[in-house]
Amino acid sequence: MGQEVASILAGKGWKIGVAGRREEKLKELQQLFPQNIEYQVIDVEKENAPEHLLSLIDKIGGMDLYFHGSGVGWHNGELDLSKELKTVSTNALGFTRMVDSAWHYFRQKGEGHIAVISSIAGVKGLGPAPSYSATKSFDNTYIQALAQLSRSSGLKIRFTDIRPGFVDTPLLDTSKHHYPMLMDQKKVARKIVRAVERKKRVAVIDWRYRILVFFWRLIPNCIWERIKL
Ligand SMILES: NC(=O)c1ccc[n+]([C@@H]2O[C@H](COP(=O)([O-])OP(=O)(O)OC[C@H]3O[C@@H](n4cnc5c(N)ncnc54)[C@H](OP(=O)(O)O)[C@@H]3O)[C@@H](O)[C@H]2O)c1
Repeated sequence: MGQEVASILAGKGWKIGVAGRREEKLKELQQLFPQNIEYQVIDVEKENAPEHLLSLIDKIGGMDLYFHGSGVGWHNGELDLSKELKTVSTNALGFTRMVDSAWHYFRQKGEGHIAVISSIAGVKGLGPAPSYSATKSFDNTYIQALAQLSRSSGLKIRFTDIRPGFVDTPLLDTSKHHYPMLMDQKKVARKIVRAVERKKRVAVIDWRYRILVFFWRLIPNCIWERIKL
């Protein structure tokens, strides 16, 4: 989804810095928009990630929007510990490392916009994806905390928390599992860009998932914990 969002914004004339671990993917994207895209290999799990983010910001001449799309996740009903820990390391620790670095940059600059892709999975603990749902809930809460902190500190930093339902991307193993209401990533990317441009605080994508989330929240925990997903 990050790649699609970057392509849309570059197509609109934004100057974009893209990052991830796989250099070949970043290079491919950069070659599609050679005037508008710079890249930097960044692994959000590594302690040097904030330094690399600052070099990328230098390459593009400054930053107005930080967009965080990195994340991993698995169906992990068997509770494979390595998958659980990798998810926490990327979606919670890596997320905090990068979002905090962007926040410090914007604090110094005096303004900015931080947009993240979390998920509707953060609404409830999900048995088949324990660390995934827990880390997405962490992301939701963390952004809310930073929004409050920024306002109370008089900082003009805006926040957008994007919460998609199932999207057909490599993150989901569609050969092994069935995902209802699966969405096309190009369509989702357009909705994400619209939410970012409007600086929406929270954007659940799409309307069907907004209804689903509304009902999920109404289910008491004592009933939720008896549901087999
Ligand atoms: N697909 C869905 O149904 C769905 C639904 C709701 C939310 N989301 C969330 O949307 C976000 C994007 O996922 P996606 O569905 O687009 O899956 P994806 O195609 O697998 O994208 C995940 C991205 O995260 C990057 N990434 C993973 N680990 C990283 C690390 N340690 N350092 C830097 N980058 C890293 C990957 O790039 P490299 O591998 O090159 O590092 C890749 O670009 C994730 O946070 C995911 O949880 C997905």
